[in-house]
Amino acid sequence: MKNYKKILAETILSSGVELELDEIEAMIEAPKDETMGDYAFPCFRLAKVLRKAPQIIAEELAKNLIENSIFDKVENVGGYVNVHIPRADFISGVIDKFAEEGEKFFESNEGNGKKVIVEFSSPNIAKPFHIGHIRSTVIGNSINNLYKTMGYDVVRINHLGDYGTQFGKMICAYRKWGNEEDVKAEPIKTLLKYYTKFHEEAEKNPELEDEAREIFVKLENGEKEEVALWQWFRDESLKEFSRVYNMLGIEFDSYAGESFYSDKMDAVLDELNAKNLLEESKGAMIVDLEKYDMTPALVKKSDGSTLYITRDIAAAIYRKNTYDFYKNIYVVASQQNLHFQQWFKIIELMGYDWAKDCYHVPFGLVSLKEGTMSTRKGRVVFLEDVLNGAVEKTKTIIEEKGVSTEDIDEVSKKVGIGAVVFNELANNRIKDYVFDWDKVLNFDGETGPYVQYTYARGCSLMRKAGEKICENIKANPLEYIDCSLISDDESFAVVKLIYNMNNVIKDATDKHEPSVLTRYIVDIAQAFNRFYNKKRVVVEDEKQTASNIAIVYLATCAIKKGLSILGIEAPERM
Ligand code: ARG
Repeated sequence: MKNYKKILAETILSSGVELELDEIEAMIEAPKDETMGDYAFPCFRLAKVLRKAPQIIAEELAKNLIENSIFDKVENVGGYVNVHIPRADFISGVIDKFAEEGEKFFESNEGNGKKVIVEFSSPNIAKPFHIGHIRSTVIGNSINNLYKTMGYDVVRINHLGDYGTQFGKMICAYRKWGNEEDVKAEPIKTLLKYYTKFHEEAEKNPELEDEAREIFVKLENGEKEEVALWQWFRDESLKEFSRVYNMLGIEFDSYAGESFYSDKMDAVLDELNAKNLLEESKGAMIVDLEKYDMTPALVKKSDGSTLYITRDIAAAIYRKNTYDFYKNIYVVASQQNLHFQQWFKIIELMGYDWAKDCYHVPFGLVSLKEGTMSTRKGRVVFLEDVLNGAVEKTKTIIEEKGVSTEDIDEVSKKVGIGAVVFNELANNRIKDYVFDWDKVLNFDGETGPYVQYTYARGCSLMRKAGEKICENIKANPLEYIDCSLISDDESFAVVKLIYNMNNVIKDATDKHEPSVLTRYIVDIAQAFNRFYNKKRVVVEDEKQTASNIAIVYLATCAIKKGLSILGIEAPERM
């Protein structure tokens, strides 16, 4: 289809403006107020070169454009040349392109199959999969989908926290106060109880900490009993995590967590040593980072056990060797900023130029109304409970409304879970927020259910229009519609948003910021609802109906695609 921006730039160039075509194109803006036009070319920069007032330049340019271009309306407004594109022509271009490309319309080949690792979720074994983890899980999943949409080959890694001194504590607590039946009945909640008790007791009796440390060293050395308990905790935990991932429709390509790297520790330490980066400090091994304004990184404790950071270094090297990634992305809370800065620097000091291809994508804290969450104190909200609660509440709302859906359970699931996910992705990821049941489950306003409902409304309009019209619109739209019938402000606004959607997807990908897309989908839904409120869609006149349905079809496809990138389902009936 025609590229109106380019055409505008070319026309401006041909009127003798002394700038490069690219420069002109880059200068073209979108007017703040849509009624002012579709494009605006500011003349202020030219004013200096031409030594003329911008208004005069704009006036002259506008005159020339009116005579020599395809644009509908060209105006000089305060030093800007404002341009309206020919609506029917534009709309038919979009509709035709969409009929040809289908979903590809929203996608891109920018990635060209390059490999991008997105590490996300990464909960800790034997600890609750709580509401704090939903952020990494949901943001990571949508970043993964964004890269896929941009044509990258994505590897989804769940770097499970399945290793470390806390397992010494857990095993220690289990042996002292635990019993098998309780763990089997409710694994994570029970293990959490032991873990909480451990910390209470350790406050009174600090020797417990030493005991736990010894147990972890045994685990690292592969002692049978410790390994067996650890394996059991891991299996039980994974079962619980999988339940949550199934509810969210999220899959991983690899669950290589921290324990996976336990046999790769010596090699890392040797390499650090060979590269003169290792120093001894009170019996422990550190990498000094003072020169870079960071605290030293402790990579091996004095008792010989390794640490979280050592495993991250090993994991990064392993990933480079295994996947030869183009980008290696970590979706992890901003509390770990220093941790990532430290080990990215260490990788760089080791001489790996791919250190620059590693990205930490941080996000803000979730707290509860009662204060920050604390696993140690047992103050957590379980993600599974949140999701189930949302589904339940949705079901009640649907029942109260008296809407008759055959598959009320299915719809409640899609809408309830969708509400939680959408809420997560609605704001800039870096913002801290307070988790609030009422807000998450608020079904009015700019929420997931609102967008899903808009989608369902579109689907219902298409059902009402009938299969024949819909099939025609999907296969050969331009034969059946008249774009001059859908050139009104409301229809045009919908098409314009959809036309621009792939730029928004690119922007969201580049910024690792799904909320850019979330907000855009709300914009589309709002534009669609204005369209829907303004005109009757299914009318007597078949050509008018078909033309309206073309808009409905575009909008529903865009919303569905957008939601799917966010990891949210779109029910056809609600
Ligand atoms: N398991 C950690 C936690 O729950 C997150 C792991 C982040 N990923 C990493 N490669 N360090 O806090």
